[in-house]
Amino acid sequence: MRWFNDPEVRQYLLMYGPMSRAKEEDWFETMQQRRDDFLFAIEAQIGADWVHVGNLGLHRIDWKNRSAVFGIVLGEKSHWNKGFGTKAARTILRFAFTELNLHRVELEVFAFNPRAQRCYEKAGFTREGTRREAIFRDGHYHDEHVMSILQEEYFAQEKARQPSESGTAKRRA
Ligand SMILES: CC(C)(COP(=O)(O)OP(=O)(O)OC[C@H]1O[C@@H](n2cnc3c(N)ncnc32)[C@H](O)[C@@H]1OP(=O)(O)O)[C@@H](O)C(=O)NCCC(=O)NCCS
Repeated sequence: MRWFNDPEVRQYLLMYGPMSRAKEEDWFETMQQRRDDFLFAIEAQIGADWVHVGNLGLHRIDWKNRSAVFGIVLGEKSHWNKGFGTKAARTILRFAFTELNLHRVELEVFAFNPRAQRCYEKAGFTREGTRREAIFRDGHYHDEHVMSILQEEYFAQEKARQPSESGTAKRRA
């Protein structure tokens, strides 16, 4: 509730208006019922503790076309820009492509959110288009970018990122 009532956090999200305990509980109940959503907590090791720093999810899963919509929030600003978002995005993409066998994961990001765009690029998403002036915020219209990653792109990216087993074995030898 505290995260979503922070205007600096909320400015980047589709939701608007204050978050109340009742709204939060309604949302949680709804999420429990849904079968086309996977929602996860992001925990990060900070010092000796594991701390709940945010949430992320795969939403609107379409089992026929094998696609889903990705969403993420790190609620504490002090945890931004430390690589947690990129690591969490890569982790859920692994789940999406190697467990759920999805073909495509997409997302929408406001044009005035370069941090998120950079995070998504690092995780392998490509910008594929712009919904012009789709977002009305603070008295102005703003563009919204659509980004996506396909399963084969994810596998190619992971292959390029990790040394192959044989390469590791050779180096060890
Ligand atoms: C978006 C979000 C998930 C990203 O997670 P994060 O852990 O902060 O991001 P990372 O540290 O993994 O990567 C951020 C990158 O953006 C860069 N960045 C930060 N501010 C930037 C700016 N103003 N312009 C360009 N790049 C910027 C960082 O330098 C970093 O790139 P680098 O590693 O190449 O230096 C997180 O910041 C967040 O939850 N923000 C608030 C809610 C939100 O925006 N949700 C997404 C809605 S689409």
